[in-house]
Amino acid sequence: MSAGLSSIPGFEHLSRIPLYVPGKPIQEVQRELGLTSIVKLASNENPWGPTEAVKARVASVIAGSEFEGLGLYPVSDGYYLRKRIADRKGLTVDRVVLGNGSSEILEMVAKAAFLDGGSAVIPKHSFAIYGIATQTAGGRVIESRATATELDADDILRSVAEDTRLVYLGNPNNPTGIRLERAPLERLVRQLREDIVLVVDQAYAEYEDPAGYPDAAAYLDERPNLLVLHTFSKIHALAAMRIGYGLGSKELMGFLERVRSPFNTNHLAQAAAEVAVQDLAFEAFSRQKNTEARAAFVLEAAKHRCQLSGTSGNFILMETAFPAADLFKELLQRGVIVRPMQGYGLPNHIRVTFGKPEEMQAFWTAAAPLLDGGC
Ligand SMILES: Cc1ncc(COP(=O)(O)O)c(C=O)c1O
Repeated sequence: MSAGLSSIPGFEHLSRIPLYVPGKPIQEVQRELGLTSIVKLASNENPWGPTEAVKARVASVIAGSEFEGLGLYPVSDGYYLRKRIADRKGLTVDRVVLGNGSSEILEMVAKAAFLDGGSAVIPKHSFAIYGIATQTAGGRVIESRATATELDADDILRSVAEDTRLVYLGNPNNPTGIRLERAPLERLVRQLREDIVLVVDQAYAEYEDPAGYPDAAAYLDERPNLLVLHTFSKIHALAAMRIGYGLGSKELMGFLERVRSPFNTNHLAQAAAEVAVQDLAFEAFSRQKNTEARAAFVLEAAKHRCQLSGTSGNFILMETAFPAADLFKELLQRGVIVRPMQGYGLPNHIRVTFGKPEEMQAFWTAAAPLLDGGC
């Protein structure tokens, strides 16, 4: 039976694409290890939210009204949320697209771009979905040079092939926590061929100091081939809702609209995000807490002589002198979930999300004896 299915060429192709491995859910660790006290620092969620105002708005949708309620389809294109995003970004509403998480938009653009094959340039050590979205849509991955501490815009440009349709760039990048600064970003934006879509994934942008952050949205009016992505899963603390957005030219949005499935974002998510996108105070608060958590982590890591990469995002990449998979397993036994990075070509690194102070305390209590001889 299964041999039959894998004789379908598309299925055979899919069977060779690595599966995305998510952070382990708390319930799973509870079930498997019988632990009761578990700290999850594995999926770059924001532990400080969502806010009471967001929760109240979700509750009001559940309670239902003439226009809302769980029995009705949501607004298919999320117009009202798109309008709020557009207003905040100083764009017209036809330059905003919503996705079931920004992951879905990464897939939508790949689906549109690789209809006739082609390739995507993706820097080494990038978010796994870029490669998975490319390959499942029938595209080929060209890996450009990057290290745990450096992104290389010029190598992205050099890596472009004749059949390249997309370039993906995480800025800041997950899992390395590094970013391209304004000058190299500008070179990439301006020198990339105009028949290639440049996807700048800014999932962690709101954690950056707005004063120095090179927001790719600044180039939206000059580059119709630019797609800038954001998510509500990170600083807005709505990962469970699955909602993200993309900003781009009207022309590009028109193509994405053709691959977007109707009602791709649900009513609860749209309503929650409408409140969240306007709450600049919560964003600033979360950014501040994140900055504090990073500073404390850097101090503690220094005591164990642990090497850290990157200063961006709500997470940190830590190098260990032994296979990170072992450290991951040991921490799991002690009720602390982090993310081993061997799947990202970083076998001696773990990625740790910044949680609340007590969660970080739990991490160090578990990790310190394991790192006794130094990282
Ligand atoms: C760089 C990056 N982009 C996108 C996403 C996906 O976020 P979403 O929850 O919006 O699908 C993540 C999630 O971890 C991420 O790290």
